[in-house]
Amino acid sequence: MVTKFEKNILCIGAGYVGGPTMAMIAYKCPQYKITVVDINPDRIDEWNSDALPIYEPGLDELVNSTRGRNLFFHTDIEKGIKESEIIFVSVNTPTKAFGVGAGMAADLQYWEKTARQILACAESSKIIVEKSTLPVKTALAMERILTSSNSGINFEVLSNPEFLAEGTAIKDLEDPDRVLIGSSQTQSGIKARDELVEIYLNWVPDDRIITSNIWSSELSKLVSNAFLAQRISSINAISSLCEKTDADISEVAFAIGKDKRIGDKFLNASVGFGGSCFKKDILNLVYLCRHYGLKEVADYWESVVKINEFQKDRFVMNMLTTMFNSLAGKRICLFGFAFKADTGDTRESPAISISRKLIDENAELVITDPQALENAKNELFEYGGNVSFVKDPYNAAAGSHAIAIMTEWDLYKGLDYKKIYKLMNKPAFIFDGRNIVDHLQLFDIGFNVYPIGKPALTHY
Ligand SMILES: NC(=O)c1ccc[n+]([C@@H]2O[C@H](COP(=O)([O-])OP(=O)(O)OC[C@H]3O[C@@H](n4cnc5c(N)ncnc54)[C@H](O)[C@@H]3O)[C@@H](O)[C@H]2O)c1
Repeated sequence: MVTKFEKNILCIGAGYVGGPTMAMIAYKCPQYKITVVDINPDRIDEWNSDALPIYEPGLDELVNSTRGRNLFFHTDIEKGIKESEIIFVSVNTPTKAFGVGAGMAADLQYWEKTARQILACAESSKIIVEKSTLPVKTALAMERILTSSNSGINFEVLSNPEFLAEGTAIKDLEDPDRVLIGSSQTQSGIKARDELVEIYLNWVPDDRIITSNIWSSELSKLVSNAFLAQRISSINAISSLCEKTDADISEVAFAIGKDKRIGDKFLNASVGFGGSCFKKDILNLVYLCRHYGLKEVADYWESVVKINEFQKDRFVMNMLTTMFNSLAGKRICLFGFAFKADTGDTRESPAISISRKLIDENAELVITDPQALENAKNELFEYGGNVSFVKDPYNAAAGSHAIAIMTEWDLYKGLDYKKIYKLMNKPAFIFDGRNIVDHLQLFDIGFNVYPIGKPALTHY
């Protein structure tokens, strides 16, 4: 097929990873045609509109400068497969909810469907790139499916896990710490790998492009997320000890972070980690370890998830005991619902389970968030009119007994807390689940302040 583009690249799955990643490749490589397809037509319509399906700083500009030039979104997966030489697969790989491995293993049904569809539609050789996070050895299963028809078409499967973090996705894609590409060590595997390296070399320095065998690449993504989550659970575990001993978690984090071997990143105590990946990827790792008979290793990593649950439970228990052991009929305002700042994503957000626990206590819940209110409504759909969703934080806080900060949005650092205090029921409580506001200043205004891992500041 003759086109004016040097390469035709397809991405199957127009989600948080597929959309931004392809927009970056399109931006950096105008010589390639990039097509992003999805089974969800609404999602594709949104990618083709002015209201993109996800909020990510810098994404609108990137899409506006490339869409219609060399970046295209549509639903014709079959045509996309036929026309492309390189296919990224970025479909979702949630935790399995049924059968063997339920609640632990990765649900690979979307992946397998995609592999079968590629096999059914392909008329020429393709490089298939795993962008989704997958258990070790998925590429092998993929290869078996793709070579099952003896069609004579050659498929080379590469692993190229995505390390972007939501909220900073565009920066991470533009200036990645590393790009990891795993391939089989055969001549054709190395050739395919080099073709993918060539794409990244358009903007990524070559010393940041790492190559490995395919299994190392698949495992590295799981381990990377496990290490990041472990760090959060480690500091959160210590925050609970700080609260018992009057030590201050910020002072402890600062002191230990000065040790170069430890480093100062990812040491903020909080209400817990969320997001679609950390929990699912750790559970996937745990499942793999159990599968290979490594019970102790599995238990070790599972404890990272357990501490995260403990931290959320602790947060609600603290609210309950502080507010005189009853939350029934009390208006509680959650500042933030996204799992982190600068995203509208609420998947696995700590705010979800905290909301549920507060509703179980018969609290009256009001939720505010600058970007995640629609997703928050979907997450708490089953509670119908028992929860209110209010965009303006002042209106949301009005009449409440307590504010609980769930997301570290900059917005919440700069609010007029004197005004908010006046609008609230007294005694007014603030539970800072992210340690982002000026606790002393709020205490001086009149709030009873409960940070994470620091002594509370109370007026009685
Ligand atoms: N979100 C992140 O921050 C992040 C970061 C790194 C890696 N990952 C991994 O990337 C993968 C995708 O994550 P995401 O957050 O983009 O998920 P997502 O749910 O936002 O997007 C996945 C998309 O794939 C589509 N899809 C599913 N089956 C399909 C099929 N058969 N054909 C075409 N489209 C199909 C869905 O409709 C959806 O739009 C996951 O494996 C995830 O673990 C995510």
